[in-house]
Amino acid sequence: MLFSRVYYGLTVLIASVSATPTIRRHVSSISPRTPPTPLPAADFSTAITASVPRTKAKRFLIQALRESQAAQAGSNFTTVVGGSDFDEEYLTNVTFGEQDFLLIVDTGSSDTWAPQIGFSCFDLSNNSVPQSQCAFGTSGFDINASSTFVTLPDTNFNIEYGDGEFLTGTVGFDTVTVGGMVVPNQELGIVTNAAWEGDGFDTGLMGLASPNLTSVFEGTDPGADEFPQTQIPYNPVFYSAVQQGVVSNPFFSVALDRGSFAAENSPDLDQNLGFIAFGGIAPVNITDTAITVPVQGYNAATFLPENASSVTYFYYTVDVESMSFTGNEKVFGTTNNIILDTGTTLDYVPTEVADAFAAAFDPPAMKDDDDGIYVVVCSATVPEFTVNIGGTTFTVDPADNLLPLGVTDDEGNDLCATGTFDGGPAEEGNIFILGDTFLHNVVVTFNIETDEVTLTQRAPYTNGGGGVGVQRRSPSSLRRRRL
Ligand SMILES: *[C@@H]1O[C@H](CO)[C@@H](O)[C@H](O)[C@H]1NC(C)=O
Ligand SMILES: *[C@@H]1O[C@H](CO)[C@@H](O)[C@H](O)[C@H]1NC(C)=O
Ligand SMILES: *[C@@H]1O[C@H](CO)[C@@H](O)[C@H](O)[C@H]1NC(C)=O
Ligand SMILES: *[C@@H]1O[C@H](CO)[C@@H](O)[C@H](O)[C@H]1NC(C)=O
Ligand SMILES: *[C@@H]1O[C@H](CO)[C@@H](O)[C@H](O)[C@H]1NC(C)=O
Ligand SMILES: *[C@@H]1O[C@H](CO)[C@@H](O)[C@H](O)[C@H]1NC(C)=O
Ligand SMILES: *[C@@H]1O[C@H](CO)[C@@H](O)[C@H](O)[C@H]1NC(C)=O
Repeated sequence: MLFSRVYYGLTVLIASVSATPTIRRHVSSISPRTPPTPLPAADFSTAITASVPRTKAKRFLIQALRESQAAQAGSNFTTVVGGSDFDEEYLTNVTFGEQDFLLIVDTGSSDTWAPQIGFSCFDLSNNSVPQSQCAFGTSGFDINASSTFVTLPDTNFNIEYGDGEFLTGTVGFDTVTVGGMVVPNQELGIVTNAAWEGDGFDTGLMGLASPNLTSVFEGTDPGADEFPQTQIPYNPVFYSAVQQGVVSNPFFSVALDRGSFAAENSPDLDQNLGFIAFGGIAPVNITDTAITVPVQGYNAATFLPENASSVTYFYYTVDVESMSFTGNEKVFGTTNNIILDTGTTLDYVPTEVADAFAAAFDPPAMKDDDDGIYVVVCSATVPEFTVNIGGTTFTVDPADNLLPLGVTDDEGNDLCATGTFDGGPAEEGNIFILGDTFLHNVVVTFNIETDEVTLTQRAPYTNGGGGVGVQRRSPSSLRRRRL
């Protein structure tokens, strides 16, 4: 079900940048092209490693939010991703200049950043704490050691994510390399103050959402930032790659593998947990079940989804027609405010769907009111959850709806959380999330030129990772809402 698309060029973001003539803000002048069918192999791709997912969102937006074939063709710009932190966080290798970092892969935000060496660390209540408490994987980015780094003066970087982490700093440009894709002069957040709950592996994050969700502001005082009044939007990494002609197609693609049960129960780094591919589809086995749908735009003033001749894109939001599961007879209401977010572990679905789904486990999953998660014995029979998008039904492997909690009940049974979380009532302004629970089952290809996403059901696969020590975690270690 496609509605007519209007393409908005990323125009008029040129800021008066007072710096050397070599500094340019990379503002897209992309014009639409028809993508080839089937989707081609990527120019570049990279592997993903896993760690704990959080959903992050900016402080300002939170207020507004109310509180295959491809593989065989070979690919140049593809990189593996790996998992850390109980396989809840997906990481990939990214290079700034010549310095390598593992960054979280996040389709729910737009900025790419790393802490600068010597940064100050804070807890989420903004108390100063030792640097080690931020738990980055390295001591940070040394801008002085990068010959290609250029500072952007009179601006500041300021972001807050949905789980309460927040970061401020300066702004600069450097060459970003990921999966063999080299993007010169990419604008980056250089974090000097971090309230961050790291996993010991990541040294920042790579944001893949819209330019309008970026977090660079006028002036050097983060306290004076106003979204969107003083925001200076810029092109995130993949937008720059398209604008600079580095990739042959204007899409990137993500395939996130589920980890093994053991790896999901471990904070260790779990290599090879999928791929992110640039310029084509990620190299995993797929089925014929696929659909291309428009990204839902927003009214920038109200932050509500809107179909209008002029909309603003923030997240990769899609119109979900229905959600169901085996044994269910009820048709649940639809919502057009669901985002595809690699940075969130669980699916956040409307309360009535989450409650009914939990009740359909055998034995039923029980809601833990303290955490909002649904807890069930790991030996439960799990109904197959389905999501209908654009008239096509995608299935969620039951394995994705059992996340080991590392605790047992009184009878010694291992307890699991379901992968489906109560995201609140299906009412206007409430944003829901298809997170890693859903994304383990599809390849999502994000076309930034046509503002469309293509979802392709993956062929069933054996859970990745494994061979790692089992550790205990608490329900609260399930990361939430890194929008
Ligand atoms: C990979 O790069 C080579 C050399 O640049 C090029 O000839 C080839 O077509 C590329 N392959 C793909 C799948 O893009
Ligand atoms: C990142 O790079 C390191 C060093 O080259 C390599 O050992 C590791 O496997 C890479 N990890 C991922 C997720 O690509
Ligand atoms: C954190 O505290 C500093 C002062 O130490 C203040 O400047 C800053 O605005 C605070 N940040 C937040 C997000 O409250
Ligand atoms: C980078 O160099 C500048 C000027 O030499 C210096 O003031 C600054 O402390 C250095 N920064 C780091 C992180 O070493
Ligand atoms: C992909 O499919 C091929 C052919 O059926 C199979 O040999 C291969 O093992 C599959 N790869 C994965 C990762 O399942
Ligand atoms: C936009 O139009 C589509 C197709 O008619 C519809 O499914 C969707 O709910 C609409 N979105 C909004 C925000 O009205
Ligand atoms: C960004 O926001 C501005 C102002 O709302 C809008 O004119 C522009 O089209 C938006 N760009 C995108 C890519 O949504």
